[in-house]
Amino acid sequence: MQLLGVSGSLRAASFNTTLLRTAQDLLPDGVSLTIFRLHDLPLFNQDVEDEGDPPPVVAWKTAVREADGLLLACPEYNGGITGVMKNAVDWASRGKPAPLTGKTACLFGASPGMTGTVRAQDALRQSLRRAGARATPLGEVLVGQAHTKIEDSQLVDEPTRAYLARHLATYVAELRRVAV
Ligand SMILES: Cc1cc2nc3c(=O)[nH]c(=O)nc-3n(C[C@H](O)[C@H](O)[C@H](O)COP(=O)(O)O)c2cc1C
Repeated sequence: MQLLGVSGSLRAASFNTTLLRTAQDLLPDGVSLTIFRLHDLPLFNQDVEDEGDPPPVVAWKTAVREADGLLLACPEYNGGITGVMKNAVDWASRGKPAPLTGKTACLFGASPGMTGTVRAQDALRQSLRRAGARATPLGEVLVGQAHTKIEDSQLVDEPTRAYLARHLATYVAELRRVAV
């Protein structure tokens, strides 16, 4: 099984990108995760789309289409998802069929606050639904006070590592059930 992961933060020391990299080590056997960097994805512009998707957009849409599942590391800005994440969803919601159509995504997020991106994940869930995709309904990973759990871009908090591993295992089991 091949998963695709993206982080909604472009920050080098991003807590959310750290969670995504950690997921690479915690996935069940037989599952691999490719991380797609969103740094080169242009802002969505329908004029650009009308002239043909630029290469970074083609790469992004192809990666989404080919993935068996999506890991979306979702930072929270002002109670919603980051522009980076929303832009990626918007591009992947375009085309016939749209790359996101029928995909089941696993959401998780980290923030220094107490609520660990719960509002952003709700907003992302809604956008995915509008785009013909869904977030797994089997729980969510909310990592609050992330600055106390991540050191030097490593998730060092063992309970959080275990929580993430359990959630990933549940998600992968769901994808496998749907695939048979
Ligand atoms: C513009 C902006 C808005 C933010 N709004 C929120 C917010 O609504 N809720 C929250 O928990 N954190 C908020 N934060 C703090 C982020 O959670 C924090 O910067 C976090 O480290 C971003 O994720 P990253 O580490 O993956 O880059 C905000 C940060 C910025 C820059």
